[in-house]
Amino acid sequence: MCGIVGFVGAQEAAPVLLDGLTRLEYRGYDSAGVAVVSPQYEIQVEKTKGYVKELSALIHGGADLHGTIGIGHTRWATHGAPSDVNSHPHLSEGGKFAVIHNGIIENYVEIKEFLINQGVTFRSETDSEVVAQLLEFYYNECHDFFEAVGRVLRRIEGAYALGMLCADCPDRIIAARKDAPLLLGYGEGENFIASDVTAIIKHTREVAYMEDGEVAVLTREGIEVFDALQQPVAKERHHIDWEVSAAEKGGYPHFMLKEIFEQPEALRRAISPRLKEGKIVFDDMKLTPEQIRAFTRVFIVACGSSYHVGMLGKYTLEHLTRRSVEVCLASEFRYADPIVDKNTLVIVISQSGETLDTMAALREAKARGAYILSIVNVVGSSIARESDDVLYTWAGPEIAVATTKAYSTQLAVLDMIGLVFGEALGTVDSAEYDEVVAELERLPEKMETVLKNHEDIQKYAAQHFNHNSIFFIGRNLDFALGLEGSLKLKEISYIHSEAYASGELKHGTISLIEEGTLVVALGTYGKLFDKALSNIIEVKARGADVLALTTEKHRAELEKTVSNVLTIPDTATMLLPSLGVVPLQLFAYYVALQRGCDIDKPRNLAKSVTVE
Ligand code: M6R
Repeated sequence: MCGIVGFVGAQEAAPVLLDGLTRLEYRGYDSAGVAVVSPQYEIQVEKTKGYVKELSALIHGGADLHGTIGIGHTRWATHGAPSDVNSHPHLSEGGKFAVIHNGIIENYVEIKEFLINQGVTFRSETDSEVVAQLLEFYYNECHDFFEAVGRVLRRIEGAYALGMLCADCPDRIIAARKDAPLLLGYGEGENFIASDVTAIIKHTREVAYMEDGEVAVLTREGIEVFDALQQPVAKERHHIDWEVSAAEKGGYPHFMLKEIFEQPEALRRAISPRLKEGKIVFDDMKLTPEQIRAFTRVFIVACGSSYHVGMLGKYTLEHLTRRSVEVCLASEFRYADPIVDKNTLVIVISQSGETLDTMAALREAKARGAYILSIVNVVGSSIARESDDVLYTWAGPEIAVATTKAYSTQLAVLDMIGLVFGEALGTVDSAEYDEVVAELERLPEKMETVLKNHEDIQKYAAQHFNHNSIFFIGRNLDFALGLEGSLKLKEISYIHSEAYASGELKHGTISLIEEGTLVVALGTYGKLFDKALSNIIEVKARGADVLALTTEKHRAELEKTVSNVLTIPDTATMLLPSLGVVPLQLFAYYVALQRGCDIDKPRNLAKSVTVE
């Protein structure tokens, strides 16, 4: 989704902005631009449809734009097609203001009409341009940049992270936030704004997260922040402790592959600090056993892969706690008039912590009195901050659009929640508890074993990348796992794919299976292995080409029926999907690689979906 970076300091701004935009590329975008205030106090804007490298070529790596203060943007089109003119920054008609914006100005039509009636000419089709034009309109009345910003913010409705420049105040950037992420970076004689920390970590690790309604004024000397009533706010600073290299490829051809291979380490970070003498201990959770026992309803709410983690969580939480758990897509939950009250627990799952639908669902649940426990990767993100309780996944920065290590760590954290809840409720069998805890400890190592077999999957993918449609089938845990395998494949390889509960096939979908259809059959769940086998026989009888996944224990048996069998080590039942997902991620990756797809930045997708 759109990315923001802003810089004020002593060095030339344009190269800093270009570098920041390059680091934001992973979020997904279709155009890029920068605005720099020149030494003659003029705002120079350069922008283009396409990638940052095209923008960089246009301005010779930044050498064409002189000035030590500027803002930059990567746009993911919503209002108005991707084009040079619709790209940000937007310049006001008189050239006094440049604006970058993430989010949506909901009442832009009305404001645009108002300004057109005042004689203002618009250049773009975007909602964002109204901010630049309105700023200039108010500034012409009050002649004060800060006051003009205040008037604009009182007039606009919707979601925004804004970076604004004024030619008459060439020493400052003003930033504002409502319902879209924006952070402040504190440097030595230089300061920054960014939509995410990767854009500026090369320059500073001291950041503060802006809250809704806040306005920040950044100069070379410092940053002042004000609340919606224009009262000064003392911001809490956070130190970012991950290494810059964590956001670089480190010798891998793609971030996705790097992140797949980082999973054992990410799991260690998520699990080890929470294992103490054979027990799961969440030092970072406020919920008490009494509170856990008092909940009468439990929801898991998320989008995309995080929702798939929730699907698996339903099986494990219901098994361990003997309470019913509802899993909802956040985009549906928020409009479903959900039955939620103060005795309800809502578990919110999000890698980015900024997904708009998930955020809206959280707020809806909170407004109805629910307790919010979130599982989040990005520290200090909006969802983390608005939750009653947050358990971080500590997976480190995830750059590839297709999630891998965040999925795995979310799953491990949710499994641990199941054990802690089961213990509080007295519903978990102690032998199972001990087995799962022991296996959680071994999980990273077992995952390393799975990763060692990556070449087998690469070879298989090299022979099977040309299918038009691929089915994933499985039952129960394997069905939920199939949903993730299927999403991974379709999002990066653009092959149509469906995940189906095997038992449902014969109720309609099996008519699509014909000679040569590729079916990825998941049979890791030991209790249902025989059923999985009979479904494999069923699709093979219709001509399907089967790639099967099972555990070491069942390999020999499955090889009697299927010639392409992948295996994972045996482990506690509820942890099987944590291992099973790895071959599916690798399969998707190598298929997409064979097809020459843009793996880290698949078409039409964004890393963090901050629009509805
Ligand atoms: O940041 P979130 O976990 O809230 O994101 C939710 C989905 O957008 C995300 O999981 C998406 O489905 C992934 N790109 C899938 O790989």
